[in-house]
Amino acid sequence: MKKLKLGVAGLGRAFALTAPTLAADKRVELVAATDPRPEALGKIARDFGAEGLASFQDLLKSSAEAIYIATPHRFHAEQAIAAAKAGKHVLVEKPMALSLRECSAMAAAAKKHRVHMIVGPSHSFDAPVRRTRQLIPQFGRVRMITAFNYTDFLYRPRMPEERKHALLNQSAHHVDIVRLLSGSALMSVRAHTAGQGAYAALLRFKEGFATIVYSGHAHFDSDEFAGWIGELGQKKDPSQYGSARRALAGRDELKFKAARNYGGPEFKSSEAQFHEHFGPIIVSCDKADLRPLPDGVMVYADGERRLEPLAPTDTPRAGVIDELYDAVVNGKAPLHDAAWGLATTEACLAILKSAKSGKEIPLKHQTSASRT
Ligand SMILES: NC(=O)c1ccc[n+]([C@@H]2O[C@H](COP(=O)([O-])OP(=O)(O)OC[C@H]3O[C@@H](n4cnc5c(N)ncnc54)[C@H](O)[C@@H]3O)[C@@H](O)[C@H]2O)c1
Repeated sequence: MKKLKLGVAGLGRAFALTAPTLAADKRVELVAATDPRPEALGKIARDFGAEGLASFQDLLKSSAEAIYIATPHRFHAEQAIAAAKAGKHVLVEKPMALSLRECSAMAAAAKKHRVHMIVGPSHSFDAPVRRTRQLIPQFGRVRMITAFNYTDFLYRPRMPEERKHALLNQSAHHVDIVRLLSGSALMSVRAHTAGQGAYAALLRFKEGFATIVYSGHAHFDSDEFAGWIGELGQKKDPSQYGSARRALAGRDELKFKAARNYGGPEFKSSEAQFHEHFGPIIVSCDKADLRPLPDGVMVYADGERRLEPLAPTDTPRAGVIDELYDAVVNGKAPLHDAAWGLATTEACLAILKSAKSGKEIPLKHQTSASRT
């Protein structure tokens, strides 16, 4: 089996969440990485035997065939375009970039230099979401999707730019999920926002519609509706109510973040036992309601209510490696390509635009995910 040589830019939280899956996947060899934090380069050398490089330019000269760009949002466009120019395939974290102009330039660079550009992992890569997508055709058309998530996102230590773009960052998950499950093109968005990280949006598809509701200011934690399995597939203890808020109180936020980050003294690896999720999702089809859950998909059909089980996993991000490997090694066009990422970013930006203008925002750059 051919090994995919991977390079990484940015060894922060996003990388740390994907790292256990990368470490367990025999199809991938992590050859090199760059990050300004020396402690992160030290840890990646110990964990993966990967070469720590001083700059992104050095990473482009490395033997990596694909680069996983997991740097802060503002670097995504510049680094993805430079990687494409250097002939490297790209896996770029969500949100793809901060503007549609940047996303278009990234898509154009991938096309021009004939490389694959995948945007993710978002929670649309989660196995229960993908299984739901496979089940839908048995139950007719998707009429309505309801998805919501109440988290402590804004109470985890953050850089100021993360707070500024919290809504774009988190809505990228919801929009990706409902686009994947709808299977039809998104037409328009109508939304309201509350504070830095809360929204309610109505998304009109060519067929059906979706409601997505999010609060990152939460006191309530919607993981209560997922059997106390957290977003990362980890078991959660409800008696730890408010722990993120308490941990942050009185600490220097940036120092706290650095201490908890990959290579820092308070770093803890994520411990998934189940599939990841992004809050409750109900997909209403003609003949059933379907609910992706951390351990499978609940099917509520005319004559039965059953769980379509999925095997537990400690490598919940395998879906993104499947898509990357299939694209780079087997030449299979990825679903979450640059055009997909552009369309999701357009919808996320439309949430902000609609909330500001009080108007429904028509969309122009949409692609749909056919179920074949
Ligand atoms: N898919 C997910 O579940 C998920 C989770 C968290 C974050 N993210 C996304 O990943 C990206 C990074 O977020 P994060 O939470 O990991 O942030 P972070 O601050 O924890 O990590 C970013 C890392 O990039 C490094 N860095 C900064 N500038 C760099 C540069 N020019 N070149 C190389 N490295 C550089 C930093 O030192 C840091 O280690 C964001 O776009 C975020 O939206 C995705």
